Amino acid sequence: MIRVTFISADGQTRQQVDAPAGAVLLDVAQAAGQPLEGTCEGQMACSTCHVIVDADDFAKLTRASEDEEDMLDLAAAATRTSRLACQITLDEALEDITVRMPGEFYNMQGM
Ligand code: FES
Repeated sequence: MIRVTFISADGQTRQQVDAPAGAVLLDVAQAAGQPLEGTCEGQMACSTCHVIVDADDFAKLTRASEDEEDMLDLAAAATRTSRLACQITLDEALEDITVRMPGEFYNMQGM
């Protein structure tokens, strides 16, 4: 099992869930009730599954494809450690991962 921690856009709320290896982060987030629309269901055509990954965890993930990078360029409030949740498959080697919901609060607080 991989421990996934979701942090709300304003940084105030944390939610922890355990997910099996091989699960897609977007599915785990939606099952946990996190506000990720994932409109295109993993087709890399919407960027509504954008999350901001903890810097240490980001380094452990397989690199984003060029298509994913292109979508992230269009995502609102994207950062250096932004990823599309539909492109992240949880891997046993991760052990745990922390991601934050993007949002205007994030920018307003300058965090
Ligand atoms: Fe649309 Fe991830 S669900 S890009």
